[in-house]
Amino acid sequence: MSPSTSPTSVPGSTELRAPDWWKTAVVYQVYPRSFADSDGDGVGDIPGITSRLDHLSRLGVDVLWLSPVYTSPMDDNGYDISDYQDVDPLFGSLADLDALIAACHDRGIRLLMDLVVNHTSDEHPWFVESRDPSSPKRDWYWWRPPRPGHEAGSPGAEPNNWAAAFSGPAWQLDEKSGEYYLHLFSAKQPDLNWENPEVRQAVYAMMRWWVDRGVDGFRMDVINFISKDPTLPDGPVLPGQALGSPFAGSANGPRLDEFLAEMNREVGLTDRHLLTVGEMPGSTIELARHVTDASRRELDMVFTFEHVDLDVKPGGVKWDIADLPLPVLKRNLQSWQLGLADVGWNSLYWNNHDQPRAVSRFGDDSPEHRVSSAKTLATVLHLHRGTPYVYQGEELGMTNADFGSIEQYRDIESVNYYASAMGLGLDREAVMRSLLIKSRDNARTPMQWDDSPNAGFSAGEPWLPVNPNHTFINAAAAEADPQSVLAHYRALIALRHKLPVVSEGDFALLLPDHDQLWVIVRTHGDDRLLVLANCASQPVSAPAAELPDLAGARVLLATHPGRDGLDLLPWESRLYNLAR
Ligand code: NOJ
Repeated sequence: MSPSTSPTSVPGSTELRAPDWWKTAVVYQVYPRSFADSDGDGVGDIPGITSRLDHLSRLGVDVLWLSPVYTSPMDDNGYDISDYQDVDPLFGSLADLDALIAACHDRGIRLLMDLVVNHTSDEHPWFVESRDPSSPKRDWYWWRPPRPGHEAGSPGAEPNNWAAAFSGPAWQLDEKSGEYYLHLFSAKQPDLNWENPEVRQAVYAMMRWWVDRGVDGFRMDVINFISKDPTLPDGPVLPGQALGSPFAGSANGPRLDEFLAEMNREVGLTDRHLLTVGEMPGSTIELARHVTDASRRELDMVFTFEHVDLDVKPGGVKWDIADLPLPVLKRNLQSWQLGLADVGWNSLYWNNHDQPRAVSRFGDDSPEHRVSSAKTLATVLHLHRGTPYVYQGEELGMTNADFGSIEQYRDIESVNYYASAMGLGLDREAVMRSLLIKSRDNARTPMQWDDSPNAGFSAGEPWLPVNPNHTFINAAAAEADPQSVLAHYRALIALRHKLPVVSEGDFALLLPDHDQLWVIVRTHGDDRLLVLANCASQPVSAPAAELPDLAGARVLLATHPGRDGLDLLPWESRLYNLAR
């Protein structure tokens, strides 16, 4: 038994879990608003999640990552928090959350809270107090006077040229004091000033409160933004953009290590064997290796954005979509595998609530290829070394939404992008096409439980339209089909739990430049696995001379059971056990 698979069996117990239990774990992300609605108001809620936990148990996942359920004005669907220690009535109550934690633990599932502490809501009492320039909380946020020589409110008077992630400048003028506050996201998400030790202590106290309540770790929202360059320098202005990029001055600042280590120490994150995963836009392999180096006691793993930013034109923003050749994607994942092979740890994901659906983006969601491509993408990802994350509905092969009009979108980023693009006179059709491909609402359509009118998600009118394809893509249909995408995910997750080579094995990429085949070898002692995957909608013949000898190798999992040989159908993949 490897160290990371040693006893973890007592649910919720901090004593008995191994320090690196998360190395053999699979995490399942729930976006509460879209998962299951228990009270018919059209919005998912905590009792809804609890009622569907058997789905997670049967899938075999170890951890539930719960996107925010805290009190919130919902400007950004809960990523704008006005009370860190309560639950928004839309989602239920603290008692409901306690019941969910207990129900998870009863099933041996751990619960990961989303921790959003780069910013609060502008309705958080801390910020409300901070609006008063004489308040002791003034310094808890980034308040600055207008740019020298400019009058507050006049064009270009913002303290620097940074753009906000959700369009427009990253500064909002407060008329009363004549000063601006920084918001890297919406104006209702003011950035906390982590330079102030009181802010940090308040955050740590809140985290300890959740740990005492029984949560098993934290997914940390844009955590590399907590340390900024305190001089807040202007950023470079990219071609076609009016404002500057905040990245260099607002991410990975000089005190990031210090803040992460302090948080870890003060909350006891490593000591209590809690799982920590930091969302880090723009992080590099070097940074990830550094902050996930176990000896530093900062984070267990990070979410990189590199592989989900590869389909963007050079120098462009997420809406400037480019083709993504397979070798580019393979090599990117390979570089993270190699970079974190001896120090640190990878997280593995295709999907989350901010990304389009994997099968529509990296696979082929046409009726002929959807099932095979969803399975093949799963096999490829889960056979990398790291902790895999499954986003709700991914295990069903759910596809992008197919919205025809801007009125159907709800996501603040999408709605603001459309408005600003129209303001700049961009081509409406091109903008709508980008939204179809990249909008965050693609991931947020309701979970498809069955073929009933609202997909079994809600008895009321869902807050976002259900995908019409729920009549045939749904959990009930998948349960009844032994060849479903769901059955494939179950088998993959079970293999991870059974075979140490899946979690621990060394990683090697073969045929890195092949534009259809994704071939991976994993080795752990005498155990060797091979993934042979055709990642294209055309057949392919794999070159025998460049592959290990497959004679006598056993197929552990396949998209097309019973087939063998080197001629692969579109999106056909096999996982072989090469040990004889
Ligand atoms: C990243 C989250 O995943 C996203 O949904 C949110 O809008 C931003 N951070 C701001 O909190």
